[in-house]
Amino acid sequence: MPFSKVLTGSNNVVPLPFKPAALNGISERMIVSHHDNSYGGAVKNLNRTEQELTQINSDTAPFVVAGLRQSELTFRNSKTLHEAYFANLGGNGKRSGAIDKALAEAYGTSARWEEHFRATGNGLGGGSGWAILELELLTGDLRTTWSGNHTQTLATAVPLLVLDMYEHAYQMDFGAAAARYIDAFFANINWDEVNHRLERALAASKVLRG
Ligand SMILES: [Fe+2]
Repeated sequence: MPFSKVLTGSNNVVPLPFKPAALNGISERMIVSHHDNSYGGAVKNLNRTEQELTQINSDTAPFVVAGLRQSELTFRNSKTLHEAYFANLGGNGKRSGAIDKALAEAYGTSARWEEHFRATGNGLGGGSGWAILELELLTGDLRTTWSGNHTQTLATAVPLLVLDMYEHAYQMDFGAAAARYIDAFFANINWDEVNHRLERALAASKVLRG
């Protein structure tokens, strides 16, 4: 069988894929706290939610099931997006390769896309959420999307570049100066990882579009 068991409550915390002291302008203290407390907490809560979900049956109150399903979606998406966020950091911030060309085709220039993405991130500053560059599988289009919480991402899309705009991602180093955090984020993007994601997403999109 090609399918793994679900609701095992055994999701693991993926370690940071770079040396936490190596980021440029984002402190070790903040990125470790973000990883261990915010992301680690989401994985722990996802496991607890899955364990609770294994107990539901036809007698379970519908509002209990609904609450657990909402928690499951929140914590699973938090896990997925945090892992994508950490994995697209640790680079030198220099954009190149297929993603640079693709962004120029989709947005006029690659710099114009960066303007869109930064503005989207700044639109979340002081609030919380995610700014995401995604490839929509059913159209093959590159979309810059906004998510006010963990459960509002674009359906049938693969995240290519993920920016965490929850205050825990920047408050400790930058206070309320969200724009300075976005500068630091861009300085640390690992574009090789984004190119790798683009390649896999395009292959999947091609299959879906026939
Ligand atoms: Fe976060």
